[in-house]
Amino acid sequence: MKLYAIFANDNIAGTTHKIFKKAIQAFEDKGYQIDELNLYDKEKDIPFFHHDREYMESHPFYLENQKRFLDADALLLVFPLYWYSVPAILKAWLDMINAWAYKYEAGMYARPLHKIKKVFIIYACMQEKQHLEEKSQNPVAQQLSQTFKFIGISKIHTYVVDRVTKLNPDEITKHLEEINEFCCSCA
Ligand SMILES: Cc1cc2nc3c(=O)[nH]c(=O)nc-3n(C[C@H](O)[C@H](O)[C@H](O)COP(=O)(O)O)c2cc1C
Repeated sequence: MKLYAIFANDNIAGTTHKIFKKAIQAFEDKGYQIDELNLYDKEKDIPFFHHDREYMESHPFYLENQKRFLDADALLLVFPLYWYSVPAILKAWLDMINAWAYKYEAGMYARPLHKIKKVFIIYACMQEKQHLEEKSQNPVAQQLSQTFKFIGISKIHTYVVDRVTKLNPDEITKHLEEINEFCCSCA
């Protein structure tokens, strides 16, 4: 099984990076082959979506990402919540999941042209999970789940680290243990 593991934060000294590394370790222990992409390492190479097909289809990052995506059996997304959404760099990456990944024929969902069966979404936020889920209807979880369902991935597993800036070391350790468990049990 190949996991395409995407990290979307320039801060590699923070909690989200610890989460990313812990998740990768858990999937490696489960026997997954990992293809790791830190989007900020490529920030100068990632294009915004253009309707000009010739431009997109000759863009080196678009082509590289297409190959990596189509090689994967599972996806991991780790990111900090930015304005109830994904960081812009991750949205640019999502916008590139394009005609090569699915074929739209009719109805609610498209037919997948990829072989990804599962998506693992882990994100950190400052606010409380209860507030995000009950009072704000958790827009990021809804957006990502609709996007992945549309392209034919129904197994979507999500873990949230809330109050991220207020966590003490013991609480961070507890989250990392839970993330290990989350990855191992859903893998
Ligand atoms: C531009 C920006 C927007 C943010 N928007 C939200 C938000 O909508 N909700 C929230 O709870 N936290 C928000 N945050 C806080 C980040 O989620 C938090 O700083 C991050 O998860 C910390 O992770 P790190 O220590 O690994 O960098 C925002 C932070 C930034 C920089």
